[in-house]
Amino acid sequence: MIIYKAKDYKDMSRRAAGIVAAQIMLKPDCVLGLATGSSPVGLYQNLVEQYKNGDLDFSKVTSVNLDEYKGIGPDHDQSYRKFMNTNLFDHVNIEPSRTFVPNGLEEDSALACDAYEQVIQNTGGIDLQLLGIGNNGHIGFNEPGDAFKCGTHCVKLTQSTIEANKRFFASEADVPRYAYTMGIRGIMQAGKILLIASGRAKAQALKDALYGPVTPSVPASILQLHKDVVVVADEEALELIEG
Ligand code: F6R
Repeated sequence: MIIYKAKDYKDMSRRAAGIVAAQIMLKPDCVLGLATGSSPVGLYQNLVEQYKNGDLDFSKVTSVNLDEYKGIGPDHDQSYRKFMNTNLFDHVNIEPSRTFVPNGLEEDSALACDAYEQVIQNTGGIDLQLLGIGNNGHIGFNEPGDAFKCGTHCVKLTQSTIEANKRFFASEADVPRYAYTMGIRGIMQAGKILLIASGRAKAQALKDALYGPVTPSVPASILQLHKDVVVVADEEALELIEG
């Protein structure tokens, strides 16, 4: 595992974008596993700039997103499909039919999850998986629990996640209670993992994930068992980790 300490969010975003850009340059038809949330917004802005400068070509890239809220559609302001379109896909030359996000409008969870698992497996494997980390140590929406869940599954969001995400909704009551998420297998099968974290609120989760015991109560701790993880985190997120 390599840990890069960035000065702040901007520096984290720039450095992490460099790693994603390198992946696309080295393998133009790569499969990117993508994340939403506050953490990758700056990274995506950097990628868009590099595309606009003529330095990056997304035309052969395939993307699979980690997760989507259950019960909201692609046009909902807070859907992760909308987030991806707004923050990245609408601004680069990625082929829309090769961008995948779980179908939040599928009410039958088993159907939604099986279909998405198939999508992930059909890509032939994720080359680079981008991850943020929840304040409770979640990755994707793999919430703390008694066991790691392998495949794509429907998850009941924890109160901590609902609290953390309510800032994006009109009120806490509007935050969906369920989500579809890629499981630990999809994440761990990726050739390379890029974990980004910014801010003090992530410091404990990051310390537990990187240096605590590997346990499903801190889902990100499983990353200790992956052979190629790069962490780009800012000083505040790393403040509980020495060196
Ligand atoms: C989002 C996702 C989540 C977030 C995590 C951190 O697709 O999978 O695991 O990465 O909740 O969210 P932010 O970046 O908003 O702090």
